[in-house]
Amino acid sequence: MSVENCKLIELPKITDPRGNLSFIEGGQHIPFEIKRVYYLYDVPGGSDRGSHAHKNLHQFIVAMSGSFDVVLDDGKQTKRYHLNRSYQGLYVCPMMWRYLDNFSSGAVCMVLASSHYEEDDYIRNYEQFLAMVNRKS
Ligand code: TYD
Repeated sequence: MSVENCKLIELPKITDPRGNLSFIEGGQHIPFEIKRVYYLYDVPGGSDRGSHAHKNLHQFIVAMSGSFDVVLDDGKQTKRYHLNRSYQGLYVCPMMWRYLDNFSSGAVCMVLASSHYEEDDYIRNYEQFLAMVNRKS
């Protein structure tokens, strides 16, 4: 898997003077079925989140409010995305090291995930991640 497999996806946006509306359908707008939703909020300034990879999990990350950066690392190259729109999100494929930083005050980060929470799916050690991706390539 390479950072090139991850991408920003624009979501439908129904503009309305009463307020805009966007929606996400599993398997339609994002390339997996949604099994779990979680969100980060009340993130103190200067905090980092993430710093791990997933063996099998697909994720889609949306800045529902405010902004933050997502840094992706496939073991060979890294790419930094600034997320600040609630009508777009970042698809993150499996075997991608990621961390999130640069949170604005009041930022809310929503993550759609392809499976339920499983600690066994996490790779939390960067050296181990590198060994795994180098073995595969
Ligand atoms: P973690 O995924 O390590 O946080 P982040 O990557 O955002 O920094 O999760 C932090 C803690 O929350 C960890 O103890 C596991 C727990 N957790 C759940 O119980 N369910 C979940 O769906 C998630 C994402 C985390």
